[in-house]
Amino acid sequence: MAASLDGFIARKDGRVDWLETSDEFAGGDTLDPEFVEAFLKTIDCYVMGSRTYETALSFEAKGFGWAYGDKPTFVLTSRELPRTRDTVEFYSGDLAQLVNGRLRPSFRSIWFVGGGAVSGDCLRLELADEVRYSILPILIGDGIPFFEKLDRDIALHLAEVKAYKSGTLALCYEVRGHRASHRTPPPNDSLQSMPSSGRG
Ligand SMILES: NC(=O)c1ccc[n+]([C@@H]2O[C@H](COP(=O)([O-])OP(=O)(O)OC[C@H]3O[C@@H](n4cnc5c(N)ncnc54)[C@H](OP(=O)(O)O)[C@@H]3O)[C@@H](O)[C@H]2O)c1
Repeated sequence: MAASLDGFIARKDGRVDWLETSDEFAGGDTLDPEFVEAFLKTIDCYVMGSRTYETALSFEAKGFGWAYGDKPTFVLTSRELPRTRDTVEFYSGDLAQLVNGRLRPSFRSIWFVGGGAVSGDCLRLELADEVRYSILPILIGDGIPFFEKLDRDIALHLAEVKAYKSGTLALCYEVRGHRASHRTPPPNDSLQSMPSSGRG
């Protein structure tokens, strides 16, 4: 997801107006539309929370289009929401069961769109292999946090950093051995002695 430097993905009321920033970082790369297109092709399906889906629908209603192409999109909700296309499927229940039981056997690359509630669940339930975090050059003070209700530390491995002309910093982390933070470290244990990758 894209977040403010202070770690919010939307204002408390869900607005994302601050995503349009006007910074310029001379040493940064330009985001090549062909690169974006090629990257999007690597995604096999999307999973999102209902509030993110509602934001996507409102963007579409304003003429900004549907960002998820014709890829299967699984929307988590316990409510009756409008289904605007055949590629959208609603799901209510155990997220781990959906991902491990149903999606993993069929899709190689599963992209969790968000929002904060679903991202938090995704990390808590040990479903994520990678976290892609784009920091925008802005502070907004308050809002919906990137990961809601995390109940423990999650160790990460920084795998990729890219700075863009727009002032956005794109970070990619791999999630390290999920249970690493639960064990009691021996007295001489250190971060350096932990495995350097170990995708979840
Ligand atoms: N900056 C970015 O890159 C970015 C990316 C994505 C989203 N966002 C923003 O984030 C905000 C939404 O985030 P959020 O944390 O408030 O909400 P969210 O994660 O999008 O949606 C949470 C909701 O999804 C439903 N849900 C989640 N897990 C479920 C399950 N296992 N079974 C059934 N229903 C389930 C529940 O609602 P119901 O059951 O009541 O439907 C829950 O309240 C929006 O403003 C969006 O624009 C920003």
